Amino acid sequence: MSTLWSGRFDSDPNAAVFAFGASFRFDRRLFEDDVIGSLAWAQALATAGVLSKEETAETTAALNQILAKGQADPAWVAGPDEDVHSFVERQLVERIGDTGRRLHTGRSRNEQVSLDLRLFLRRRSISLQVAVRRVIAALVSLAQRCGDAHMPAYTHLRRAQPVLIAHFLLAHAAAMRRDHSRLSAAAAEADALPLGSGAVAGTNYAIDTATLARTLGFSRVVANSIDASADRDFVSTFLHACALTMVHLSRFAEDMVIFSGEEFGFFELSDASATGSSMMPQKKNPDPLELVRGKTGRAIGHLAGWLATMKGLPSGYNKDLQEDKEAVFDADHTVAGSLEAVAIVVEGLTVHTERAEGAAAGLLLATDVADYLVGKGLPFRRAHELVGAMTRRLLAQGRDFESLPLAEWRGYSELFESDVVDRVTTKASVAARRTPQSTHPEAVRDSLRELGDWLKAED
Ligand code: ARG
Repeated sequence: MSTLWSGRFDSDPNAAVFAFGASFRFDRRLFEDDVIGSLAWAQALATAGVLSKEETAETTAALNQILAKGQADPAWVAGPDEDVHSFVERQLVERIGDTGRRLHTGRSRNEQVSLDLRLFLRRRSISLQVAVRRVIAALVSLAQRCGDAHMPAYTHLRRAQPVLIAHFLLAHAAAMRRDHSRLSAAAAEADALPLGSGAVAGTNYAIDTATLARTLGFSRVVANSIDASADRDFVSTFLHACALTMVHLSRFAEDMVIFSGEEFGFFELSDASATGSSMMPQKKNPDPLELVRGKTGRAIGHLAGWLATMKGLPSGYNKDLQEDKEAVFDADHTVAGSLEAVAIVVEGLTVHTERAEGAAAGLLLATDVADYLVGKGLPFRRAHELVGAMTRRLLAQGRDFESLPLAEWRGYSELFESDVVDRVTTKASVAARRTPQSTHPEAVRDSLRELGDWLKAED
């Protein structure tokens, strides 16, 4: 197998060392991006006067043929080549001979691989955003179906305060919405044309980088050729976006594993998104959610590993940078698969409102009782203490606030008046919240509306 660099060497590379360094096995995924970049480069060379009109036409036709063939049959994109760039060049030379050998004029694989990866990340970020929106849409539609039904909100995984189930679901949607903008930021970071950087010092040919950038859909050209040859910050940003998306999916998965279990039973997984046990016939296991939680480790690992790879590199391109691709491909694949699994789980969830509301009553209203006393003029610290003592008594008696007749209330404090019976209920508790980010039913409805509008605008 001849390489793109064999001229300088007396002997062939050691087969094992060549195989060790080859990246075609995985960078074949950049095939389309590589050909699209080469098509634009041929045009730039034509404008620069390097390729004649006929050569440009010939090159363009051959590249288009190669692109069509690879798209129609991805398995064809394979062979003994060192990397995808070598593959495309070999195909080109096989078709048009020496004219094909002119395409690499003024260009280095160092900038080519950066270009390919930027193009790849740009389109993948958009696809991942579509997948994030599918999960958000599923949460929104489930939240709509929940109406004003309650569940407990937890802190320290102990019952804290009643909230609307919709509010809980939208909490996860809020985190995923940040993932969505983080993916935009990742795409924006990749949005710079590296071509024109050459191997490290820039190119000698009159390449119109501004036009080339426009042709390839970039809004700007990189600032410095040395930096560009080794800059993979856009990879780190993408991996960070993937890792954090996975962290959020994992936290959602964990909530659902807990809340769909027998002890809680607020939600139930559809049969289609659960699995059984080979031994225990009664089991309905949340495997997809556990796997999402489990796979989060890989995505975090790719980010941490990649930062470690970058930290010791001297300026300019170094082969270490080739390690970026497997991290990116696996992170992308992991997030895409997890988003789809979570979307399917959410789309199939059943909500057991009675169970959730049953858990949201009783002593959860302690803060509301304290707030009631504050409303009657008692300093909050005193109210907290008084309600703490009440709670201790009620716990011992196995009762809750809603079971207290007025006389008993007044036994605890003269400040309790007849309105307390209506004020200390789950419904009153959520209705007493005032801020736009709160669980007040109106605030939740506004959030739902806003999210719905956003989803529509993004589609
Ligand atoms: N396969 C290489 C990579 O992924 C392409 C760039 C190779 N450049 C070089 N000078 N060896 O980074």
